[in-house]
Amino acid sequence: MATQKKSSSKTPALNFGSAWDYAPAPETTPVPLKKSYDLFIGGKFVQPKSGKTFWSINPATGKRHARIARAEAADVDLAVRTARTAHENGWSKMPAAERGKYLFRIARMIQEKSRELAILESMDGGKPIRESRDIDLPLVAAHFFHYAGWADKLEYAFPGRKPRSLGVAGQIIPWNFPLLMAAWKIAPALACGNTVVIKPAETTSITALHLAEIFQQAGLPDGVVNIVTGAGDTGAALVNHPDIDKIAFTGSTGVGKKIAASVAGTKKMLTLELGGKAANIVFEDAAIDQAVEGIINGIYFNQGHVCCAGSRLLVQESVHDEIVAKLRDRIETLRVGDPLDKNTDVGAINSREQLARIRELVDSGVAEGADLVESSCSLPDEGYWCRPGFFTGVTPSHRVAREEIFGPVLSVLTFRTPEEAIERANNTCYGLSAGIWTDKGSKIFQLANQLKAGVIWGNTFNQFDPTSPFGGYKESGFGREGGRHGLAAYVKV
Ligand code: NAI
Ligand code: MG
Repeated sequence: MATQKKSSSKTPALNFGSAWDYAPAPETTPVPLKKSYDLFIGGKFVQPKSGKTFWSINPATGKRHARIARAEAADVDLAVRTARTAHENGWSKMPAAERGKYLFRIARMIQEKSRELAILESMDGGKPIRESRDIDLPLVAAHFFHYAGWADKLEYAFPGRKPRSLGVAGQIIPWNFPLLMAAWKIAPALACGNTVVIKPAETTSITALHLAEIFQQAGLPDGVVNIVTGAGDTGAALVNHPDIDKIAFTGSTGVGKKIAASVAGTKKMLTLELGGKAANIVFEDAAIDQAVEGIINGIYFNQGHVCCAGSRLLVQESVHDEIVAKLRDRIETLRVGDPLDKNTDVGAINSREQLARIRELVDSGVAEGADLVESSCSLPDEGYWCRPGFFTGVTPSHRVAREEIFGPVLSVLTFRTPEEAIERANNTCYGLSAGIWTDKGSKIFQLANQLKAGVIWGNTFNQFDPTSPFGGYKESGFGREGGRHGLAAYVKV
């Protein structure tokens, strides 16, 4: 695998070049992949009826590394019927405490296997091992633990009501947090007595199928979770299946709108978690160094592949130059390269298509007159990579200020007063998340009440916890995942 090459600084005063030239530190030897991965239906791995497959690519090399089954409508139908039988014949009728025990067992097994799963996640999706090992996998286990605890306490979550399962949930997830999105969707659905047919994203199917092995080993009853792999047409077959009770989708706003249109007028319930263009607002009274680290964490550490990424930086005019200077120095020190290297900050872009989308939007920023500052790091010769960078001189009408970039490139805008900060932050069709950096707690509360975003972080960014609900406003979707709120999406009361 191509690895990080020496990065030299453009800023002569700091000259990080040699100081940051660590020896490579791969996490461990890569986990062997299976040659091919089948569908997981009724507790078994089964081949797709058509026999068709597609390739999963390692984005750090651009090379094919495993074949994945392509599910068509007939396979989706089998999965849904299997899930229906599992729902009616057992899972929904089982004492809730017993359901909880399965979820606890799965959570513990995820912890035991978390090293292997983290490596697979980085191999297949390109994210740095530091992220998958220290953030994704602990959160995956935590979500199963959290919802295991709710399984027999649903009547406390909905006092005076009799919560009942919906039936079969069809779930479609994206490629930015493959296992975490699977956990966010599967754990609450199961806790509430539903059964599941889930479709991972086509570029990151592998870890979900390793999770399926954990379901087998945990003795989860057959058919409670079924996994169908494939691209958008597989997802559409799931959305359009007549015997689905609920669709939960996380992904692009465009596909979310299509899904909303196709379930309109059916019995299907729907939750959507779509894109974002989060504002990270920094006041002049903030702890500036801490804020700069928060900005870096908010956009670069996951290649910007985060729907709640702080991709619009709003800085108070008086501290603009200081923050831009600090950011310029800090992005020079980010290590871009081998996702399996423990020292890597920015991994590979998830796919060739995503890299093309990022490049197109970055080019539009340059063409529209914003100034691009990029890290001078060298990139590996093969695979999909993007230099961390940011735009200054951005105006609210630029595409880079309005459209989701989903890559490691930030847009810097300025404001003078809190009122202007609120107006600029809310000037977007999205409303998923926002960040506020200030020394004054009262300012955080004042702004938080006026920002139209589902999640607002104060003096921090991109923090997640299974007890805390997550979800958006406006074109960022509706419904909440996580915490007690996340149960409401999977019960009728
Ligand atoms: P996408 O929305 O096409 O893919 C997400 C999931 O939906 C995948 O599993 C995909 O197979 C499935 N899907 C695609 N078309 C479908 C259809 N017609 N019916 C049912 N399921 C369908 O997102 P894509 O193309 O991978 O990324 C495009 C852009 O979307 C990104 O650049 C980013 O801006 C945004 N995005 C946002 C995410 C978020 O977390 N909110 C996650 C992924 C992408
Ligand atoms: Mg892949």
